[in-house]
Amino acid sequence: MQHPHLASLFPADFLWGVSTSAYQIEGAVHEDGRGASIWDQFAATPGKVHQGQTGAVACDHYHRMPEDVALMASLGLKAYRFSIAWPRIQPEGTGAANSLGLDFYDRLVDALLAHDIVPLATLYHWDLPLALHQQGGWLNRATANHFAEYAEIVGRRLGDRVPWWLTLNEPWCAAFLGYGNGLHAPGMHNTQAAFVAGHHLLLAHGHAMQRLRATVRADAQLGIALNLNPAYPHDNSPETLRAVQEVDRFNNGWFLDPIFRGHYPEQLSADFKVAPPPILDGDMELISTPIDYLGVNYYSRSLIPLHQGTSPVGTSSATVVSDQDGHFTEMGWEIYPPGLTDLMVQLDRDYRPRKIVITENGAAFPDEWDGGDRVDDPRRSDYLAAHIQAMATALVQGVPLAGYFAWALMDNFEWAEGFSKRFGLVYVDFPTQRRIIKASGRWYAAFIQQQRAGH
Ligand code: FCB
Repeated sequence: MQHPHLASLFPADFLWGVSTSAYQIEGAVHEDGRGASIWDQFAATPGKVHQGQTGAVACDHYHRMPEDVALMASLGLKAYRFSIAWPRIQPEGTGAANSLGLDFYDRLVDALLAHDIVPLATLYHWDLPLALHQQGGWLNRATANHFAEYAEIVGRRLGDRVPWWLTLNEPWCAAFLGYGNGLHAPGMHNTQAAFVAGHHLLLAHGHAMQRLRATVRADAQLGIALNLNPAYPHDNSPETLRAVQEVDRFNNGWFLDPIFRGHYPEQLSADFKVAPPPILDGDMELISTPIDYLGVNYYSRSLIPLHQGTSPVGTSSATVVSDQDGHFTEMGWEIYPPGLTDLMVQLDRDYRPRKIVITENGAAFPDEWDGGDRVDDPRRSDYLAAHIQAMATALVQGVPLAGYFAWALMDNFEWAEGFSKRFGLVYVDFPTQRRIIKASGRWYAAFIQQQRAGH
């Protein structure tokens, strides 16, 4: 084992897990009464997803759930983060619950508990029911009210057994990639729309916090997962330092400030030259309902180059460069573990979350399977080890870290990249659906085992 000391730095009840999301792994899109989502439609639109691929089959997890849970147990995982597909629970996004859809997650939760794996459920990982999109989707304030109903249905059914909840996954992506630059479903290109969608997503979060609180077990931990990306200056000119602040407001403050401080960053809409989000009385109080923990999805940082008077974020993040000397994953994301330490320390100082859980962290590399039982992916093990080390550095500085979830359990449908980017600790041979544990999966299993043994 490479890092004997590292494992012993974490508390005994630290949650070591892996993460997935419904549309990326389940497949079975027409089964048991599931309705269509915006991702079914987006993926079916030519030119939107790599090679026209879709999540129609994905990892076929809907049919292979018991084996996948057994696989997780064989790795010794302590926790599993999954998402619930809203269109399985309410095929049209409103109205009576579809019991067959609920049954699937019920079985999943029971299977996890039977293997001593702690379930962490995300209510929304981007698969909005298409019927709601046809009524305006996240541009329609009513969608947040529908989400409240959905949260209550799920809370009532699973809340006795699921101890960890996330309302939304990465509302920044749902709002900006979905409505601002159109790289994700529903594919709209309008910055103003992104701010409207973002506000309604935050309202949905606030409603769901309250509905979950009223329906799930009293000791449940409720939170939201944000993709956070710390910004660094490439030089020390005043222009660059200003640009760094601007990028930070956009990447991080847009969602952190409303949740923890009850207001948007002052400059945010001015940076974009758009109207402020459509805030009604009581909205910000609802949005800043206290959370029990903050979920952080960390992959990389932004390094901001010298600016010549233009806004770095006005239309895209295209002017954000990466360090020439840096190392990159296949997504083109710079590998920068110190960014995780810095981010944790800053979050703790500036927002004082009660707890932080790293709800995603991982890397895509062009893995090769030998056709037998080996996939050697040393760069992924190194990536995980370096980020776990970065977490330990934050932990010893007093950051209240409670868990770490590697993205992802297995290779899956990586949104606009289709199946071309592999993030799994387990390799999936998609034609046969065979799962092969990668060397990084074995590394992680050994690390967790050592951590258990040390306590
Ligand atoms: C995050 C998403 C997750 C996965 C990773 C690579 O933005 O939450 O679904 O696609 O990126």
